[in-house]
Amino acid sequence: LPSEDMATEGGHLIVISNRLPVTISKDAQGEYHFKMSSGGLVSALSGFKKSLNFTWIGWPGFFIPHKDRPIVDRRLRDEYSCQAVYLDDDVADRHYNGFSNSILWPLFHYHPGEMNFDEENWLAYRQANMQFADAVRHHIKPGSMVWVQDYHLMLLPMLLRGMIDGRDNLGELTLDELSKITEGIPFELTMASKRIPNVKIGYFLHTPFPSSEIYRILPVRREILLGVLYCDLIGFHTYDYARHFLSSCTRILNLPTMPNGVEFEGRLAHVGTFPIGIEPSTFIDNLQKPGVIDRIAQLEQRFSGVKVIVGVDRLDYIKGVPQKLHALELFLTQHPEWIGKVVMVQLAVPSRQDVEEYQNLRSTVNELVGRINGRFGTVEFMPIHFMHKSLNFDELCALYAVSDVCLVTSTRDGMNLVSYEYIACQQARQGVMILSEFAGAAQSLNGSIVVNPWDSQQVADAIHEAVTIDPATRAENHRKLFKYVNKYSAAFWGSSFIREMSKIRQGESEEGVV
Ligand code: G6P
Repeated sequence: LPSEDMATEGGHLIVISNRLPVTISKDAQGEYHFKMSSGGLVSALSGFKKSLNFTWIGWPGFFIPHKDRPIVDRRLRDEYSCQAVYLDDDVADRHYNGFSNSILWPLFHYHPGEMNFDEENWLAYRQANMQFADAVRHHIKPGSMVWVQDYHLMLLPMLLRGMIDGRDNLGELTLDELSKITEGIPFELTMASKRIPNVKIGYFLHTPFPSSEIYRILPVRREILLGVLYCDLIGFHTYDYARHFLSSCTRILNLPTMPNGVEFEGRLAHVGTFPIGIEPSTFIDNLQKPGVIDRIAQLEQRFSGVKVIVGVDRLDYIKGVPQKLHALELFLTQHPEWIGKVVMVQLAVPSRQDVEEYQNLRSTVNELVGRINGRFGTVEFMPIHFMHKSLNFDELCALYAVSDVCLVTSTRDGMNLVSYEYIACQQARQGVMILSEFAGAAQSLNGSIVVNPWDSQQVADAIHEAVTIDPATRAENHRKLFKYVNKYSAAFWGSSFIREMSKIRQGESEEGVV
């Protein structure tokens, strides 16, 4: 178990992600409310809480005035083992909406056309990363393991390495880069006065890492690669993403790479694949709740005699919602006998609404839904039930459970956990999973119908196959899928990464660790 390895080194884990795992809100009376989030990362790491001294560092999600911070800090620390990084509104906006979601996100998902590079946003990204590093400084100690998450924090490993090595530069190769990275930032990173021994730094990217042909478009491509290379272990969801990262290091930085890592500054930055999962029991147990059982019965009655295709996506241009709607339209055109007998329930969860591309997408999707419903709808029947909101967990589980087909048509997607969630909720119905080949999950979920979302004919054919498939094939496919989802859970992912990181030894013999 990873905890055994870690216990010998102090058993201290620091996880850093852009968002804290706690949703904080402030009511009209100025009272703060805290609620643990339920994402994959949270369930992956909650198992460690028992065995490890555990701290989670992240941004609270909105501006919290200085006077309120001591109260918020105390509750976060005492009840959730968390520490907030308070960013000013402008820095937070440019870091999150600007650099992270208008530059890195589109580029990593093969949308360079949507990328808006802006110096000010880059400055804010560097500043935010430095503020995160400063927050880590208060927690790091000999033997700590630090695990940095996702594309919002790609400079953080470099800043942390400088800090734990007790130097204000990071060696010849990056002196230039480092000064570029820190110039103009009204913030000073305090370095440790002496080296903090045996600290491990890990990084995991939750998005795809694109082909080097796409990645090299990024004006700050060197700085971002260098930012993560100071890690001991760099993880990706799939082998392809890892391979793209390695070839970018070769082509852009001219560094020697091997299948398992990059040689850099006299150390090996290990690179590995760790496909994330979900905690299936959360879904399975929830389906047993009386309220959820009742809701399932209601929905089954509402949709009796009709096949339900479910779609659950954040309303993001990478999710291929327009492609999904085009394919449904083609299916209904070619198979009019199914009009009135198939409905698509599409939940589009609002996301990043301050970014222009997300606003444009909303209009496109609204128009398509209106057109298709106008064309195939009758007084009694509408082919698409479209909701632009988020559903509570009970309602979501019930919706997954009553659906005959789940349709995921992402044009790029790091993993796509909706497919896992659907499979977890389908033990009774054994529904069909149609999955885009551009979602990381397609590399693991053997038993789904894999499609190219750009090929409307292929997706329309897959819909037809899914609604007509024989029960034995359906059951067999579900059995395979369920087995995988159950085994490769979020906890499995978290412990594999931590175990791998704790095994790495490099040049630490002077500390007595060989
Ligand atoms: C993706 C990213 C996560 C992010 C999530 C929701 O899965 O990899 O880091 O938290 O989307 O997006 P949001 O911008 O709301 O945090």
